[in-house]
Formats: sequence, structure tokens, C-alpha cells
Amino acid sequence: MDECRPILNTGLRGFKVASSRISDVDGDIGKIVYRGFLIQDLAAKASFEEVVYLLLYEKLPNKEELKAFEARLSAERHLPAEFIDALKTRPKYALPMDILQAGVAMLAHHDSDVRELSDEAASRMAIKLIAKFPTIMAAWGRIRNNREPVDPSPDLGHAANFLYMLSGEVPDDEVARFFDVCLVLHAEHTFNASTFAAREVASTRAHMYAAVAAGVGSLSGELHGGANVRVMEMLLKIGSVDKVEDYVTAQLDAGKVIFGLGHAVYKVDDPRAHILAPMSQKMGERTGQPQWFEISQELEKKGKAIFKERKGIDIFTNVDFYSASLYYSMGIPLDFFTPIFAIARIAGWVAHVIEEQFAGAAAKPVLYRPESEYVGDYCGPDTCEFVPLEDR
Ligand SMILES: CC(C)(COP(=O)(O)OP(=O)(O)OC[C@H]1O[C@@H](n2cnc3c(N)ncnc32)[C@H](O)[C@@H]1OP(=O)(O)O)[C@@H](O)C(=O)NCCC(=O)NCCS
Repeated sequence: MDECRPILNTGLRGFKVASSRISDVDGDIGKIVYRGFLIQDLAAKASFEEVVYLLLYEKLPNKEELKAFEARLSAERHLPAEFIDALKTRPKYALPMDILQAGVAMLAHHDSDVRELSDEAASRMAIKLIAKFPTIMAAWGRIRNNREPVDPSPDLGHAANFLYMLSGEVPDDEVARFFDVCLVLHAEHTFNASTFAAREVASTRAHMYAAVAAGVGSLSGELHGGANVRVMEMLLKIGSVDKVEDYVTAQLDAGKVIFGLGHAVYKVDDPRAHILAPMSQKMGERTGQPQWFEISQELEKKGKAIFKERKGIDIFTNVDFYSASLYYSMGIPLDFFTPIFAIARIAGWVAHVIEEQFAGAAAKPVLYRPESEYVGDYCGPDTCEFVPLEDR
């Protein structure tokens, strides 16, 4: 072991591994900025398409630029017929995130841009991936229920199109806008686990689909994008506001996690939770099922208080806490919560892959290559003698 190099068993928390111009998070004060713009302003005033443009091209589009960009996305939403045929061969019980990850790899088969390592090709692939993510997931949502996929509508924006392709019905303006805000809020979040995974793969000069497939795999875990599903399962298990306190106590007694609380970076509430909460409340009222928001609210209150009492530290709501009840009220199946996260986060992933490969090389080593501390065996002070198979 080299004594000069620190061993980090901290999941790299607190270490800056690269420079980035894409976004900034200040976990101490709950501040998120995309390309210099506050998340609250973007959520209130920009569409997902505008935010994608901002992430990719480092500026907000004017009207003409936005119109042209929306047309490019619209033109790329369709999936090749062979792709749909391949989805139809998948077992109906396949996990949606696995379908998405396999789908990303399959898209690469159809794209000659994978052979070109240039920022022009990367930019084209980025738009294709962003445009096709909702189509893949909506198609799978229908195919697994023995229904034919619905083609994307040229008349609908990104958010409304997904809901339309999934359900076959055009959502009303309020639901479409709420979903659009969710996409904006989840689009980017600095060097989170999935973005780091995508950047690590991109640092090898692998193509964008390979990098994005790694991001999808990383996002699927329950400590990352999978947490929103766990939050909803928890709310369903609790069932009513009066059961919240017992639930929290039992979970902590058993040393179990309360999903939707806590974050590796934030030391205050995640600002996105404050934007999601009123939308969850409104959707609960609309559907006549206010209990999911009410249980969440009580869980936030009791969870924070009991956590403080037990551990002596503050815990805060993260982005998954109120998005779970919001998606549920929108009629989205539980196992599609994490794919929705991916439909948004693909915007951040591709921006990071482009930065990693074409804009950030000067600021970081070309290839990520950390080291590990070997804690395995040696045979005494020396390496082990290899015994041939027949003599073992
Ligand atoms: C996200 C998460 C992994 C961050 O963990 P972390 O970096 O260890 O967070 P902290 O350093 O603030 O944790 C301090 C302590 O509180 C515990 N803790 C943190 N969040 C907790 C939660 N939601 N439920 C129960 N205990 C929790 C940690 O295990 C740690 O305990 P310890 O001191 O006994 O080891 C963790 O908060 C978690 O598992 N949350 C639930 C999953 C979730 O919602 N993930 C989505 C994140 S966006």
C-alpha cells in the first residue's frame, strides 16, 4: 500500500473529481443551478424543451431556436419498426429499467453516428436519445399489457407526448404542465451516481449509447432513482395518517431506511421537494385521493422529529419524497417512476457525456482510473504458490 495516497471509504463524498460548466448544487443552502439559472426559475417559467436546449447549448433559446429544436425532437421521437418488434419479444415481467437499458444499447445498432467520435455526432445522438426515451418507455408500458404502442403526436410537447403515448389519452394542460415541471426538476444534478457512471464510461471514449446505458443501470438502484418507487410502496403500506408514527418508529428500530429522506449532498430540504409538494397536493385533490399527500406530509413531520430525537441529527426530504405521490396521482404505474426519472435525466447525462469528451478534457485526467486498497490475502509475506488443478 502506498502510504501517501488516502484511502476513501466515503463514496467519494466531498471530492471534486472534475470541473463542469453544466450545473451546481449547494447542499448547505439547498441551491440548484443549471448553466447559471436557478431551478426555481426554470421550474416556474421554462419548458423541459427549453431546459434541454440550455443544458446542451449553454444558453436559453429564443422563440425561433426553440421552435426549430422542438421540431428536431419531434422528428426523432419515432422508434424503428424492428425496435418495436424486439420489444414485443421481451418477457412481460421484465423490469422497465432493464428494458430501457437494453433499449439504449439496441438504439446504437441503428445509428451510424456511433462510429464517429465528434461533437457533431454526439450532439445528434443526444437529441435522438432525449427524443426516444419517452417513446421507448411508453411503448413498453403498452406492450407488456398486450396493447399496441401509440405513435408520438406531432402536436404535443415532450411531457404531454409521454403521457399520451402511455395512456392513449391526451392529458389536460394542468397535468401536462405538472409533468413538464417534474422533467425540468429531474433533468440534471451535477455528479450524482448515474451521471458519474455515464461520464466514467465516456472518459474511455466509448460512444454515447454505451455511456448512457451505464447511467440507466446506475439510476435503477433503490438508493438513487429507484427510491421514488420505494417511497410510494411505503406510503401504500402505511395507508393512513394515524399510522405514520408507528411506521417510522418500527423502521428505525429495525435499522431500516425511510425512503425519500436524506441525501448525500443536502443538509437542508432538497429545493425540488418544495416545488413537488404543492403539485402532489393538487393532484391528490383532483383525483379525490388526498391521503397520499397527507401521509407524506405527516411522514415528513414525524420522520424529521423522530430522527432528530433518535440520532441527534437533522434529516431532510429529497426529490423522491413528494414525486412519488405526485406520479401515483397521475396514474403512472409504480415501476415507471424510475423510468420517468430517466426520461428527464437523459438530458443531463448527454450534456455531461459531451462535456466529458469534448469540452472538459483540459480540466481533468482523460480517463478516470482510481485505485483500490487490496485487503485480500497473500500467503504469508509473499504471493501464493500456484498449485495445478490436478494437484489441488
Ligand atoms: C441517500 C442516502 C444513501 C445518503 O446517506 P448518507 O450519505 O449516509 O447520509 P448521512 O451521512 O446524512 O446519514 C447520516 C446517518 O443517517 C442515516 N440515514 C440517512 N438517511 C436515512 C434514512 N432515510 N432512513 C434511515 N436512516 C438514514 C445514515 O444511515 C447514517 O446513519 P449512521 O450515522 O448510523 O451511519 C440516505 O439518506 C438514504 O438511504 N436515504 C433513503 C434513500 C433515498 O431516499 N434515496 C434517494 C436519494 S435522492
